[in-house]
Amino acid sequence: MLEDTSFAIHPGKEQVTGIDAYSDIGTLLNYKKTDNKYLFQCKNGQVVIQFYTDFIVRVVMNPVDEPKLSGSKAVITLPETVTVKEQQSSEALILKTSKLELVIKKSPFRLTVNDHQGRELIAEMDRGMGFKSTGEVIAYKVMNEADHFYGFGEKSGHLDKRGEKYEMWNTDVYAPHNPETDPLYESIPYFMTLRDGRAHGVFFDNTFRTIFDMKSEEHYYSFQAEGGQLDYYVFAGPEPKSVLEQYTHLTGKMPLPPKWALGYHQSRYSYRSEAEVRELAKNFIERDIPLDAVHLDIHYMNGYRVFTFDQERFPNPEKLIKDLRELGIRVVPIVDPGVKKDPEYNIYQEGVNGDLFCKYIEGHIYHGDVWPGPSAFPDFTDEKVHKWWGDKHEFYTKLGIEGIWNDMNEPAVFNETKTMDVEVIHRNEGRPATHRELHNIYGLLMEKATYGGLRQQLNGKRPFLLTRAGYAGVQRYAAVWTGDNRSFWEHLQMSLPMVMNLGLSGAPFAGPDVGGFAYDTNAELLTRWTQVGAFTPFFRNHSAIGFKNQEPWQFGEKYATIMKKYIQMRYEWMPQLYSLFYQASKTGLPVMRPLLMEFPDDEKTYNMNDQFMIGDNVIVAPILVPSVTDRAVYLPAGEWIEFSTGIVYEGAETHLIHAELDEMPIFVKKGSAIMQTEWISNIVKSSKNITMNVYASDHDESYRFTFYDDDGETFEYEKNAFVELDIEVKSNEDSVEINVLQQKGNLSPAYKEINVNVVGLKEGQHVIINGENSGEKRVVPVK
Ligand code: GLC
Repeated sequence: MLEDTSFAIHPGKEQVTGIDAYSDIGTLLNYKKTDNKYLFQCKNGQVVIQFYTDFIVRVVMNPVDEPKLSGSKAVITLPETVTVKEQQSSEALILKTSKLELVIKKSPFRLTVNDHQGRELIAEMDRGMGFKSTGEVIAYKVMNEADHFYGFGEKSGHLDKRGEKYEMWNTDVYAPHNPETDPLYESIPYFMTLRDGRAHGVFFDNTFRTIFDMKSEEHYYSFQAEGGQLDYYVFAGPEPKSVLEQYTHLTGKMPLPPKWALGYHQSRYSYRSEAEVRELAKNFIERDIPLDAVHLDIHYMNGYRVFTFDQERFPNPEKLIKDLRELGIRVVPIVDPGVKKDPEYNIYQEGVNGDLFCKYIEGHIYHGDVWPGPSAFPDFTDEKVHKWWGDKHEFYTKLGIEGIWNDMNEPAVFNETKTMDVEVIHRNEGRPATHRELHNIYGLLMEKATYGGLRQQLNGKRPFLLTRAGYAGVQRYAAVWTGDNRSFWEHLQMSLPMVMNLGLSGAPFAGPDVGGFAYDTNAELLTRWTQVGAFTPFFRNHSAIGFKNQEPWQFGEKYATIMKKYIQMRYEWMPQLYSLFYQASKTGLPVMRPLLMEFPDDEKTYNMNDQFMIGDNVIVAPILVPSVTDRAVYLPAGEWIEFSTGIVYEGAETHLIHAELDEMPIFVKKGSAIMQTEWISNIVKSSKNITMNVYASDHDESYRFTFYDDDGETFEYEKNAFVELDIEVKSNEDSVEINVLQQKGNLSPAYKEINVNVVGLKEGQHVIINGENSGEKRVVPVK
């Protein structure tokens, strides 16, 4: 009995919790300035304050050494030269850029970050930065009564995260994702605070297990990590959009995806043979249901060995891929990081012989159980491994594959801890570190390696990657799906705030498994979910082994017809969606947005979970409960036209909207416009005709938007092969004016004009296009 020995009074048994457990950074002793960096020597540690831009400041606290400023896997931008003005008093030092004001109290060291008008963004009072001798670091910030929190990557629960506590530790969770289920697969240690219509952001760039606590205390929130430095950035905003632009200025934007990746994807764990895949494709074609990609889950492989095909089930993958391609369908195979421990398997041999797998410090390879049984894991923190893994994808690209689905890359391991032993050592570009430190970036680095390989091998075509795990910056390489959800109405509901918060966390290309992964779906749920899916950035139907098949026709013609209508609608909206993805690739702004992003002064939008926006002028208000055909829809200020009926609704009001199973309420803001096309066939996809639907207002309204188009699959747009129209729509009592303010790019598209369809034109209201009264045929010319 250990308790009968001196072990009973082991010092480690003493429990100290809360703030008392931490040492405070203490009083400021002295400081010095070099370039854009200030180094503060405090009684119990050192702090660096570094200005990145006028809007972005970085704070790094290290209790032991001088703070290290390099080595981030998330941040890809260097600090700019920023003009900083200093003011001194006996109590405080004030540092000012044109957009930020930092007040540094000296005794003890306390930091307040204000905007340039002195409005507080983040503040420390009796508590500030602290640490434990065991390595934990923490920052306490004052929580204002009016604070609402968003972002945090992939979290269940509601849109507004006030009152929640979250952990960042990439985790494989097959168990149902409840509101309390945390952590999940992605770690994006970033959030945005919205306070009285103004927003600011914080990015805590620490790859250890981190915790964000907006719950435990009334007047403080905190973020803490198990180890490493307290290294965070503050973004000044002040609009939700500018916060996100500032965050993605540091961590990067998504690359423009190939158009096919924005289409409909069909998946199943698993389509198990070539014959089954061909039959699937045939069904889509015969039914005229659009399909851009079929995903191959783990059964395509030989004994779950990555970079192989099972010879019996898939005897001729090259031919299959080619034949499907001729029908307008791409094949996206799953690739997991675990490499089967098998001395006769070339990938395992190469990994062992080339010293490419994760190892213990003592030198032996770490093996963990995944689908193929005991497996080794490539050490993606090593440049050599990156190249190897990327190059290995020639196996797929040579067969005509342009997209890869990466799963289990938390990495997931079938054991108690659900992942790799945290004591495993990663090479980390010459600065070895444990898995405990680098766990959260394993997925990000796998994406980086895979993207690099595909980019090289695809001869100028754009790769598509889908990932389950990631860290801040994941948007640079891959789309994210939200893992193993279930065929529950509650999970359909939850997917909206989840994808919106991913969008607010810099990852705009995201979506859940439509229809639900585990559990048996049903006709009504699948139909309603497919309607929503048609408007979520990533649109894939996927279901699990052992549960009902859920392809769109599985529940009979009545439902198949409705789903077909919505999947086709996805393609009709493609010019609009593609323009928004282009915008995301330039600015970081998500395609699918919470209403608060466009209406930050309207408190009603602050926790609006069951409606979302597509761009800045479309509101989607799906039915998210069974047996219901009416719902309340809140429309913010302005006037809104229902897309399917043309009925006009007043904004700043809640309306009861009727929607039979074949309808999903969509509203377009009056005075604005959207770009549409027609569905043709799976081979051709959309028609060459583009139509601008202009929603006429008879009040003074002015709206500007960008229409973007290019070849949809190569990087030629980087060499100016695109068309970009900067369009203005101006309405008043007498007229609706449409002006192309600017055309950029030197692609001359097949369409020489864009049809203009004016919805809701009043009698006597003229349509003026580029300054001239339009005749019968309303078109905008494209050069
Ligand atoms: C994981 C994935 C799921 C996939 C399955 C088999 O559960 O999340 O999407 O189908 O593994 O590969």
